[in-house]
Amino acid sequence: MAKDIGIDLGTSTTNIFMKDKGIVLSEPSVVAINTSTGKPIAVGTAAERMIGRTPPTITTVKPVRKGAIADFEIAEFMLRYFLAKACGLAINFGTTRMILSVPTKISEVEQLAVLEAAKSSCRRPARAMPRLIEEPLASAIGADLPLRAESAEGSMIVDIGGGTTEVAVISMGSILVGDSITVGGEAFDLQVINHMRTDHNLLIGEETAETVKIKAGCVFPQAQEKSIDVYGRDMITGLPGNVRIYSNELIETFKDPAIQIVDCIKGVLDGLPPEISADIVRNGIAMSGGGSLLTGLSEFVRTETNVPVKVVDGARYATANGIGKCLSDVTLKELINAGRA
Ligand SMILES: Nc1ncnc2c1ncn2[C@@H]1O[C@H](COP(=O)(O)OP(=O)(O)OP(=O)(O)O)[C@@H](O)[C@H]1O
Ligand SMILES: [Mg+2]
Repeated sequence: MAKDIGIDLGTSTTNIFMKDKGIVLSEPSVVAINTSTGKPIAVGTAAERMIGRTPPTITTVKPVRKGAIADFEIAEFMLRYFLAKACGLAINFGTTRMILSVPTKISEVEQLAVLEAAKSSCRRPARAMPRLIEEPLASAIGADLPLRAESAEGSMIVDIGGGTTEVAVISMGSILVGDSITVGGEAFDLQVINHMRTDHNLLIGEETAETVKIKAGCVFPQAQEKSIDVYGRDMITGLPGNVRIYSNELIETFKDPAIQIVDCIKGVLDGLPPEISADIVRNGIAMSGGGSLLTGLSEFVRTETNVPVKVVDGARYATANGIGKCLSDVTLKELINAGRA
């Protein structure tokens, strides 16, 4: 049975959307490799658990960096594994259409790598070449922003992923103006690691840092302060140690990446045609991507830009849902830049 498939190959997460079914897979973009044989031993969720815990014979690789493929072979293997897992053997890849999202600033060589990885991860050549859609456009479609060609209203989407933040103003079905930076959720994880090392003499791993960020991280003062016990290695004794930290102490630490995101948004807002500016003030900024869920980030953006902000429903899946809508909606399909496919 032929199925059309949408793939959001993200820095942190790969989401696969199957037409008529919705999102059928959402797993970390991670592969664990046996360093002596070079063979993959775990993919996705299973591989993510190994990060920071591997013996010398195993290494964990994130083949997507800043939204683009950094390790082609591993990315291709990961995609093939995910497609088989999500779509099973019943699917005939020989007759499958595929749409993949890519960052707006991706180079031509990087685009080709994504197309090549998608093609060769199928068991048989797909009927049509895979097609690419710019990530913020896909997220805007997934978030149901008014962007069909007949709608002349301007809307702004800010998609904060793990490795990138994409900002775009969309009108009449295409990106009017946009910008992106290689700052996303991972930048906040690094800030947690630095903060624990410099202020608490505690060395922690990436996974712990991400958990701290999600459970207690905060960019804007909240009525209810949260705390979390952080476990790692005490740098003074060299022994296992733990420290209780409070969300307000992370506000200062998170300022730097948060300001970079706000500056990118301000840069796009600056110089918009007045009617489009008016639309955006009226409709607000829509935020999507897992990074937009960081506590207080939407308030921070609202305060700094003076524009209302809404984190869209299902923010982590907006891109994949948008690609999914393009699979079945002819008018949306036309929005996909033919030149990219
Ligand atoms: N509840 C949460 N609070 C804060 N951050 C979160 C939350 N849930 C997920 N994240 C962060 O969201 C990021 C991943 O988001 P997403 O899955 O949209 O990224 P991606 O699409 O893989 O990356 P990119 O678009 O940059 O290639 C990670 O940094 C993760 O820590
Ligand atoms: Mg993304």
